[in-house]
Amino acid sequence: MDPRPIGVFDSGLGGLTTVRELRRLLPGEDIVYFGDTGRVPYGSRSRETIIRYARQDVAFLRTFDLKLIVIACGTVSTTAMEVLARENSIPVLGVVAPAADAAAQVTRSGKIGLIGTQASIRSGAYEALIHARDPMAQVISQPCPLFVPLVENGRFRPGDVVIETVVGEYLAPLKRRGVDTLVLGCTHYPLLEEVISNFMGPDVVLVNAGAEGARAAAERLAFEGALSDRTEGGGCRYFVSDRQEDFSRLASIFLGWDVTGQVGKVDIG
Ligand code: SIN
Repeated sequence: MDPRPIGVFDSGLGGLTTVRELRRLLPGEDIVYFGDTGRVPYGSRSRETIIRYARQDVAFLRTFDLKLIVIACGTVSTTAMEVLARENSIPVLGVVAPAADAAAQVTRSGKIGLIGTQASIRSGAYEALIHARDPMAQVISQPCPLFVPLVENGRFRPGDVVIETVVGEYLAPLKRRGVDTLVLGCTHYPLLEEVISNFMGPDVVLVNAGAEGARAAAERLAFEGALSDRTEGGGCRYFVSDRQEDFSRLASIFLGWDVTGQVGKVDIG
């Protein structure tokens, strides 16, 4: 039994997809969340910058006595996961391997669509892990650089003509190719789940990288006997690197519980 909190971080709001699933699976755990809202998006940046930002994010989280860190960011998971895992004495888990596992398991036709940031797609990390699980799988990738800024600006709900147009533009080629599974390889994208599903149709299974990362973390803690002994009442502390108000408003909508007044501000750089 380990009462210490779980650390979770992302470039912004997206990692809340992991927080929401962790809350559902492990309601007794304490969580410390950091969203680097002052520097989002990460996905259009160079590998060196992403690693530098990720190290600073982890350094902030490590000011808390944590038992495990989840990199709830597709871009950091594809780009800096090995560096962070090597440099830290506590387990650091990402979202890529769990999402690749899930995609290889659920596909029926072997035609898997993959959407992510430019950095994630460029890294080839998802494809490599999907092929390691299913060498015959056909992975069709599409970077979607406008999704993160739109989500961070609250444009993620069905009926929003801007997001629906951009979703149609990016996903039409994947739909035409007949993928039966679509990996939402950036943790911001599950906030668009309804819009994406409406466009792709009910037969396409969406794999939520943020939620898969949470499941993998829960399994790892259970395997290591490091869960808290509480089964409910865990708390979550939120920190961001820019305006708390914007984050609180959108986080409360997405999480379905109110985080107003619970968000701290950090000078990360
Ligand atoms: C970004 O900041 O560009 C997206 C983060 C992610 O890939 O999950």
